[in-house]
Amino acid sequence: MNPPIDSTVVQSVIDQFNIPDFGNATIREVVAISGQIEKLTGQEFIHMEMGVPGLPAPKVAVEAEIEALKNGVASIYPVIDGLPELKEEASRFIKAFIDIDVLPQGCVPVVGSMQGTFTSFLVCGQCDEKKDTILFIDPGFPVQKMQIGVLGYKSVSFDVYHYRGKKLKNKLEEYLQKGNIAAIIYSNPNNPAWFCLNDEELQIIGGLSMKYDVVVLEDLAYFAMDFRRDLGTPFQPPFQVSVAKYTDYYILLISGSKAFSYAGQRIGVVAISDKLYQRTYPALQARYGIGTFGSVFIHRALYAISSGTSHSAQYALAAVMKAANEGRFHFLDDVKEYARRAKRMKEIFLENNFEIVYDKDLDEKVGDGFYFTIRYPGMAGGELMRELIFYGISAISLATTGSEQEGLRACTSFIKDHQYDLLAERLKIFKENHPLA
Ligand SMILES: Cc1ncc(COP(=O)(O)O)c(C=O)c1O
Repeated sequence: MNPPIDSTVVQSVIDQFNIPDFGNATIREVVAISGQIEKLTGQEFIHMEMGVPGLPAPKVAVEAEIEALKNGVASIYPVIDGLPELKEEASRFIKAFIDIDVLPQGCVPVVGSMQGTFTSFLVCGQCDEKKDTILFIDPGFPVQKMQIGVLGYKSVSFDVYHYRGKKLKNKLEEYLQKGNIAAIIYSNPNNPAWFCLNDEELQIIGGLSMKYDVVVLEDLAYFAMDFRRDLGTPFQPPFQVSVAKYTDYYILLISGSKAFSYAGQRIGVVAISDKLYQRTYPALQARYGIGTFGSVFIHRALYAISSGTSHSAQYALAAVMKAANEGRFHFLDDVKEYARRAKRMKEIFLENNFEIVYDKDLDEKVGDGFYFTIRYPGMAGGELMRELIFYGISAISLATTGSEQEGLRACTSFIKDHQYDLLAERLKIFKENHPLA
């Protein structure tokens, strides 16, 4: 049976883009290709490539921001350390949902987690001349590698697929023993695979961070969105698991974009552990004239990069965190929508011979959430990605995320209600056209 989208058009658009290795096509390229084909054929695509949140922003945040603007904050520079109310609420939020104590001093607003990781890489890489490399526990968010490139730093990475559980220890030590690692980064839940490193694994990472004196950057862009457990009741277990329980030297990156559907305002909070905040590094002292990590992070690096974070957005995040801390706003209720979508989408893929690539957290099935990963038996990731375009389905190859597995990342954020049937219809034809050996 012919694929649903006109093959001549698809082929000619793909040819125009002249991408030698399709598996390495970027998200932007995939968006451009699928958009162009939609325009030429008038047929809609099921877009799974982009991780754009898109749920309505919470009322409590929007109202607080409008109120702040009406009160005139737009004309005044925000304090570089952050709005005191936000620092207080962020510290309480971390206590309420992770059960960890971080002083408000170390809770600092940033222009999205992106700025948080950029600044963290920057400062961590300057603390000790011998430690000039960032270690990525992959798969991961490709833009962070781009940040390393922009900084001119070095990075190393490995795909954690075969190193879950106790095996993680030896693998990490292979890198840490060399003495050149400044920081370790991973996201939890993971972008792109939605697995979650568990308490035992975080304990390993934390323990090694202390042993080798390495900072851990824990990217909580999808804060508490492991929907297998209800992590949304403040000050009550179960809590979001965190390396903060196991090391003194960590930075938590909490984004406003996904858990609070506030991506457009570009706001997040970094939480620098009390010990790291206060720690003095001679190399920082020599470079900046001040040596404490926290002070360099805020008063040198953030000051130089953006001189603070949008004033009104800080009011929004403070209000949303306050409401969550007080149990008035159940932030996970709204974003559970991603899990409902993932569940339906995965069912359709599985019915049509696809498999989930990162399917387990050791012996537990991965949850449903913002992303999931798929493969088709016998097909390489790039090949599958290219082939699915002929079926009006776009996704990105895992190869661009540092994964060594053959497959694709699918994002649930763009699927529309009427598209589940369309997905089923198109995948049925795909299955017929690609019988398994
Ligand atoms: C793992 C991860 N970290 C960070 C970010 C960026 O977050 P923000 O919008 O707060 O800059 C994303 C966004 O997709 C992400 O997936």
